[in-house]
Amino acid sequence: MGEVESVGLLEQKHSRRTFIKGVVAAGATVASANYMLNGTSVLGAAAVQSQTERMITLNVNGQQRRVDVLPNETLAMTLRYKLNLTGTKLGCDRAECGACTLLIDGVNQYGCSILTHSVRGREVTTVEGLEDPDTGELSLVQQAVMDEGGFQCAFCAPGFIMSMTALIEQNPNPTRAEAAHALSGNLCRCADYDKILNCAMRAGELAQNA
Ligand code: FES
Ligand code: FES
Repeated sequence: MGEVESVGLLEQKHSRRTFIKGVVAAGATVASANYMLNGTSVLGAAAVQSQTERMITLNVNGQQRRVDVLPNETLAMTLRYKLNLTGTKLGCDRAECGACTLLIDGVNQYGCSILTHSVRGREVTTVEGLEDPDTGELSLVQQAVMDEGGFQCAFCAPGFIMSMTALIEQNPNPTRAEAAHALSGNLCRCADYDKILNCAMRAGELAQNA
């Protein structure tokens, strides 16, 4: 190897080492900046604060319930894991199956896809809130399910019952096709749809005679 060639190689090695040192130094700067932001700065404080629970009051099944809630917490999570209202099921947790269906101001919605903070001041009804709190009498829809022996494993039942409740409230005399349409946001893994529709029709009958 000639002298000129070896000098060239040395220069290449030196510049590569300088480059690597620069990258390491930049990384250290970023890491320390993150540490500073997380530990002491206003931005860091905001990041920590965004994960902090806040106590709010919810109107659930006619009762005022005080509960600590994270900013990004869904209503289904709050109901199940903080208020012990486990009748609201979690299937997909992504607005596909309807197992988490509940009523908000009388309208059926997916509890897994609505933030708890957004329902403050609104009326939340879960399957636990359908029966008469004084007498324990079942709602029309619950009675219809009992009459028809609907559902196999019944995992989907609370969600269907809430959607049926909203349907019968709006249309107490639905056709089978209207009921199928109204319940199309709920899925049954056992595919027990025929019996479920029988329940909806029976609920209509009970509503007519109420
Ligand atoms: S759990 Fe909410 S839609 Fe499936
Ligand atoms: S009855 Fe089993 S999921 Fe519907």
